[in-house]
Amino acid sequence: MGTIDDWNQYWKENPDSKVLFTEDNGKSISDFEQFWSQNIPNDTEMQSVIDIACGAGALFQSFGDKPFNRKVGLDCSTDALNSLKKNVPDAQVILNKTSNLPKEKLLEFDFIVSQFGIEYLGVDAIKNMPTMMKEGSKFIALCHYKDGHIYSRYKREKEGMESLFEIHAFENALQIANLVATDPNAYEKRAKQYLSHLSTLDNKWCAGSLHFVNGIKQLFLSYKQYAHSDILAWIKGFEQQLGTIYRRVSAICDVALSTSDIKQITSGKYSDSWGVRPFLLKNKELPVAWDLRFNKRVNNEKA
Ligand SMILES: C[S@@+](CC[C@H](N)C(=O)[O-])C[C@H]1O[C@@H](n2cnc3c(N)ncnc32)[C@H](O)[C@@H]1O
Repeated sequence: MGTIDDWNQYWKENPDSKVLFTEDNGKSISDFEQFWSQNIPNDTEMQSVIDIACGAGALFQSFGDKPFNRKVGLDCSTDALNSLKKNVPDAQVILNKTSNLPKEKLLEFDFIVSQFGIEYLGVDAIKNMPTMMKEGSKFIALCHYKDGHIYSRYKREKEGMESLFEIHAFENALQIANLVATDPNAYEKRAKQYLSHLSTLDNKWCAGSLHFVNGIKQLFLSYKQYAHSDILAWIKGFEQQLGTIYRRVSAICDVALSTSDIKQITSGKYSDSWGVRPFLLKNKELPVAWDLRFNKRVNNEKA
């Protein structure tokens, strides 16, 4: 999901999504909430906080008990910010449609936080963070980890969809479905070949691609139970839906930070004040995120 239009569409369709932050059973992952609750102090009555790429406000909701005197969410999507205002009525919002963060605004805050967000603005936005912070302020972020747990899951999902695209699964399915009306014998033969080709690739299918494969099997094997127009509409609708999911999943893979991105971010003038470590979840072997922090000391500018 590279573009602002994609994000707007996403937030329009999923106004309260916390999709990245759920277990396979749909429950939210408490480790993230614990992370924020442990890393944000309690004496924040006099402090201000800004959440970069805040989405619908998952982060403010996870540390809603902290008494900040000013909370601001920044995002590129108007729809996300509308959801944030609904979910966190005492928060203000900033619409930011570029990869450049508004330095003059960021300088006002004691805490700058981000959860799977700032990496969408690019490595330079993170690297430049120290120059946009006031003395004594803190930056804390959880960012996508290349080759980590979330990344691996989405990479597999992406590859499943790519396998469908490579074999022209949608175009072929539409051609075959059209034969139902014109040449039922040819339909039977082609549908059988098509389904057995899909079966040879069974180890590729997961998530969206698996739903398609299961759905088309059901439709092609029991086509007499369905209206022809419904079969065509289902295939076209699925293709469109998978195109959107593909862009979103690809963007997550693209923005995930590699070890060399992290080196780039933390090298240079401010290298001493960066803190970085992999963030792990209970029962997961691979890291789910980079835990990335910067404390702007009073003497950072003189370093
Ligand atoms: C994966 S979501 C995370 C949302 C939120 N932090 C959360 O924890 O639910 C990434 C967010 O980045 C936002 N985003 C992408 N590009 C952006 C940009 N250039 N400026 C600001 N926000 C951006 C999207 O609109 C989206 O809300």
